[in-house]
Amino acid sequence: MSSFKISTFLIVVLAVIPVLYGQDIALDENNMDEVMATGTMEPPMSSATHSHPTTAPKHPTPTPTLSKGNYTLKDRDGKICFRAIFETTFKVMYLAKGSSKKIASFDLPPNHAYRGVCSSKMIHFWITWKPAYVLNMTFIEKAVNGTIQPNSEIDEMKENQAWELENIKFTYDTHDNKNFPNAMKPAKSIVYSNATAVFFRTPVNESYTCVSKSVIPMYDMGGMKVMANVTISKAKIQPFAQKYGAEFTCASDLAKNNVVPIAVGAALAGLLLIVIVAYFIGRRNARAGYESV
Ligand SMILES: *[C@@H]1O[C@H](CO)[C@@H](O)[C@H](O)[C@H]1NC(C)=O
Ligand SMILES: *[C@@H]1O[C@H](CO)[C@@H](O)[C@H](O)[C@H]1NC(C)=O
Ligand SMILES: *[C@@H]1O[C@H](CO)[C@@H](O)[C@H](O)[C@H]1NC(C)=O
Ligand SMILES: *[C@@H]1O[C@H](CO)[C@@H](O)[C@H](O)[C@H]1NC(C)=O
Ligand SMILES: *[C@@H]1O[C@H](CO)[C@@H](O)[C@H](O)[C@H]1NC(C)=O
Ligand SMILES: *[C@@H]1O[C@H](CO)[C@@H](O)[C@H](O)[C@H]1NC(C)=O
Repeated sequence: MSSFKISTFLIVVLAVIPVLYGQDIALDENNMDEVMATGTMEPPMSSATHSHPTTAPKHPTPTPTLSKGNYTLKDRDGKICFRAIFETTFKVMYLAKGSSKKIASFDLPPNHAYRGVCSSKMIHFWITWKPAYVLNMTFIEKAVNGTIQPNSEIDEMKENQAWELENIKFTYDTHDNKNFPNAMKPAKSIVYSNATAVFFRTPVNESYTCVSKSVIPMYDMGGMKVMANVTISKAKIQPFAQKYGAEFTCASDLAKNNVVPIAVGAALAGLLLIVIVAYFIGRRNARAGYESV
């Protein structure tokens, strides 16, 4: 009797599992949507002209929705050689009057300009804004040995063509009181990304796609002291191609996307265990019942 009830229960639970799983996947997509829509953590600067459109996309897609930069460069023949969409924020250490170290924290303003130069293996791309800011990036294409992390299906045993962000150079001037209030001895400064580090390495013809933030430390000329951090997020970057190729998802996005399926899997395993234990307890009780008859 009771073993019949338990097996009915087991069937019902097994029938419900796919439904539960489906709901969790749907929830996951909604969550991602929310992350994307509210991804700009820094509050907008309190200027009337600085408006932040934060409308969520109706249908969640793996492609990040971006509001700030949407860039294309053309080569000498007029062919597109670089496409990118990303958001950038900055944190810059400076000395304020009274010798206290301060951190200036600002976003790339909506009214910025950009330019660039493409050649077959190197692209210089720079963004400028007033009064004297320059964010200058160099992308290169080259052969690399071994894995291109994290998710490429390429042959790891041979040489592969890849592109990467080779370096970033950021120029700012602490005369800008808006971002650097009370700066001591205001001056122009240039900071550099680590010259030997590699950023955003991606198989050639694929687009680097990363909703998560990448914080890139920027060093002084000597390369030892971190003077600033450039944070790039909601990025889709495709140099050395006319259109966006297959998406190459960054490791931190992959890690985030794995959290929910793992949690769902663990919950289902737990549920199954409870059902099995209940079944055996039920069977033992049923047997005890027969014996006493
Ligand atoms: C970026 O710009 C291109 C061409 O100007 C346009 O087709 C595309 O929809 C834009 N993408 C976004 C996300 O704004
Ligand atoms: C950015 O860097 C490239 C390569 O060094 C250079 O040609 C270009 O003039 C730089 N842009 C600015 C605005 O400094
Ligand atoms: C890759 O490895 C091969 C064999 O070891 C070597 O000949 C080649 O120069 C390497 N290529 C790069 C880009 O390091
Ligand atoms: C620069 O990057 C290299 C390679 O990733 C690393 O070994 C080195 O420690 C980095 N330098 C600094 C100052 O962090
Ligand atoms: C990348 O795309 C270009 C243009 O479609 C093609 O000529 C080239 O062979 C591709 N490279 C690789 C490594 O797939
Ligand atoms: C840059 O980021 C590092 C690591 O998160 C942090 O230790 C450092 O204080 C940051 N520097 C600035 C200027 O924001």
